[in-house]
Amino acid sequence: MEKITVSVARPYDVIVERGAAVRAGELISEVKKPCRVLLVSDDNVYPIYGGTVTESLSRAGFTVSSFVFEHGEASKNPSVLFSILEAAAKESITRSDLFVALGGGVVGDITGLSAALYLRGVDYVGIPTSLLSMVDSSVGGKTAVDLPAGKNLVGAFHQPIRVICDPDTLETLPEYYLTDGAAEVVKYGMIADSDILSMIVSSGVESNIEELILRSVKIKRDIVERDEFDRGDRKLLNFGHTVGHAVEIAADFSVSHGRGVAYGMTAITAAAEKLGLAKDCSEILKKALEAAGLDSSLPPYSGSELIDTMLRDKKREGDTITLVIPSVPGECRLQAFPVSQLGELLFGEVRP
Ligand SMILES: NC(=O)c1ccc[n+]([C@@H]2O[C@H](COP(=O)([O-])OP(=O)(O)OC[C@H]3O[C@@H](n4cnc5c(N)ncnc54)[C@H](O)[C@@H]3O)[C@@H](O)[C@H]2O)c1
Ligand SMILES: [Zn+2]
Repeated sequence: MEKITVSVARPYDVIVERGAAVRAGELISEVKKPCRVLLVSDDNVYPIYGGTVTESLSRAGFTVSSFVFEHGEASKNPSVLFSILEAAAKESITRSDLFVALGGGVVGDITGLSAALYLRGVDYVGIPTSLLSMVDSSVGGKTAVDLPAGKNLVGAFHQPIRVICDPDTLETLPEYYLTDGAAEVVKYGMIADSDILSMIVSSGVESNIEELILRSVKIKRDIVERDEFDRGDRKLLNFGHTVGHAVEIAADFSVSHGRGVAYGMTAITAAAEKLGLAKDCSEILKKALEAAGLDSSLPPYSGSELIDTMLRDKKREGDTITLVIPSVPGECRLQAFPVSQLGELLFGEVRP
């Protein structure tokens, strides 16, 4: 078992352990006295792991009720959020009780926000079951739901009191989502740990999964500790995301987030090398993406199709936009570029 402590205002541990879901009750009782629990999950994950986690919690003395909603991003909305809050009220959950999020990033985000809002804030524990949620969304305390106008527009910073990562749960995660999460792992390799890239290139993602999760969580932990409220360094986590997000939108979300990020990382890395800002990055990025089952080509859209979307990006600051630029494998930095140069910078010189 590995315990990674996230030292924010209210520190908490991320436990990474095979079989941890079976011990969820015991692991939660280390940080919370027996109480009522609202276990929130989706209709894919609950039928597989809901019973095990509920039994474990009950054995440890917790009184569990559950709220299960339809899987998918479409459920990450205010209506489901309010249904969770109403379920909590109906079950007489009090300030000293607990929410538990069992599922991927959608369950984690909406449960975290429910916990932030209910009675002005109750504790919650994350049990992430997708690779993306293990390495990214479950750590750091960003919680949100979407509005029709855009993703994650209503949210709060609310840190969990513990995160329990059981890599064994990935055995039932469809390959498509495993690959999507792998894009974020490659991202961590590019921004902070080139060993991640070498490991993926030499033996893929699945055979190294536990080590890759550990390394990724530690990088996220380090960045979150430096910047709990997303005012500086946390922007490094957006490597490949500005272009990636534009690709997702251009494709009307038929390109998944991870696949968009893979395109974004490829585009920004190619541009940075062309401009002499980065060295030796494109080749290892390409190899790592391919070994992870991701497309390593430039985005299948023209610069003009993507630039307008990028300029509407909330990360834009007036006439400049801050991009995450690789320097060498395992090292990235933030650099502001004039908005007027974005097209040429990203696509003018590098696109055939
Ligand atoms: N809060 C943050 O810091 C942060 C960071 C990155 C992403 N996110 C959010 O995370 C969400 C994406 O997360 P995701 O990719 O986990 O999506 P998801 O929660 O929709 O999970 C993907 C699919 O896999 C299924 N699934 C999950 N675990 C499973 C398992 N072990 N076995 C079988 N099926 C399983 C789910 O039911 C779903 O159908 C987005 O809403 C995104 O905005 C948040
Ligand atoms: Zn991402």
